[in-house]
Amino acid sequence: MVKIAIAALQIAKRHHHSQQEEKIMMLKNKVALVTGGTSGIGRATAIAMGTAGAKVVFSGRRDAEGEETAALICETGAECLFVRSDVSREADVQVLVEETIATYGKLDCAFNNAGIESPGKPLHEQPIEEFDKLISINVRGLFLCMKYEIQQMLNQGSGVIVNNSSMGGLIGFPGVSPYIASKHAVMGLTRSAALDYAKQGIRINAINPGLIATEMMERLADGTGNTADSYASMVPMGRMGQAAEMAQVVVFLCSDAASYITGQPLVIDGGFTAN
Ligand SMILES: NC(=O)c1ccc[n+]([C@@H]2O[C@H](COP(=O)([O-])OP(=O)(O)OC[C@H]3O[C@@H](n4cnc5c(N)ncnc54)[C@H](O)[C@@H]3O)[C@@H](O)[C@H]2O)c1
Repeated sequence: MVKIAIAALQIAKRHHHSQQEEKIMMLKNKVALVTGGTSGIGRATAIAMGTAGAKVVFSGRRDAEGEETAALICETGAECLFVRSDVSREADVQVLVEETIATYGKLDCAFNNAGIESPGKPLHEQPIEEFDKLISINVRGLFLCMKYEIQQMLNQGSGVIVNNSSMGGLIGFPGVSPYIASKHAVMGLTRSAALDYAKQGIRINAINPGLIATEMMERLADGTGNTADSYASMVPMGRMGQAAEMAQVVVFLCSDAASYITGQPLVIDGGFTAN
C-alpha cells in the first residue's frame, strides 16, 4: 500500500513537473521579435520570451543597453540577436524584419513595444514638435512594424502580434494628451488589423498596462512632480506594476493558449480602470 502511494506520488510529481515545464516553455521553437527591448517592459518581455523557449530578436537605439539585455537573455539559455534600429525609420524596420528572417528563418511572434511619453502639460502647452515626434514613434513606428511583420506572417500563413498600448488607450488621463491619443490610435490599428487578417492565421492583440515602474515612469514623475508613492496610491492594489508582470501576459497572448483571442485589449493595471 505504502509503495503504491509513493509510486502514485512520484507519478503525480512527474506530471506536475512536466506541466510546469510545459507552462514555462510556452514559446518553444518560436521566433520572437521585440521592439524597444533595451529597457523596461520590452527588456523584461525579451527575457520572458527567452525563458519560454523562443529565439529572441530585439531592437533599440542604445548599444550598451542592447548588450546588457542580450546578456540577460543568454542567461535563460535562449539564442538572441540585437539589431540597432529606430522604429520611426522605415528602412530600419524593414532591415529589422529581414535580419530576423535571415538569422532564424521565420517570425512567429512580434511585440511592438517601443514608445515615448509626452511632456507632462495641459494640451494648450504641448509643443507641436513634441507631438509630431511622439506620433512618428508611437503610431507611425508601430504601423511600420506591423506592416513589415504582417508581410512575413502572410508568407508563412501564421503569426501573432501584440502591441503595447496602455490603459491610456482606453481612457483619458490628464496632462499627457498626445500620449493618450497615440495609445488610442494603437487600439485602432490593433482592432482593424486583427479583422484584416483574422482568416489568414494571424492574431493581433494589445496589452494595456497601468502605472508600471520603468524608466518612463521615472521621467514622467520628474516632469509632473509626482513620486512613486503618489502613483502607487492611485492604484487599487496599492502599488505600481512591474515590467515582468507585463511580460508574462505578452508571452500568454503570443502562445497557443490564447489561440481564440484576437483584436482585444488586455488591461494589466492593478484595478485602476475598474474604478
Ligand atoms: N511604464 C508605464 O507605466 C507604461 C504604461 C502603459 C504603457 N507603457 C508603454 O510601454 C512601452 C515601453 O515603455 P517602458 O515603460 O518600458 O519605458 P522605457 O522608456 O523603459 O521603454 C521604452 C523603450 O522604447 C525604446 N524606444 C523609444 N523610441 C524608440 C524608437 N524610435 N525606436 C526604437 N526604440 C525606441 C526605448 O529606447 C526604450 O527601450 C511604451 O510603448 C510605453 O508607452 C508604459
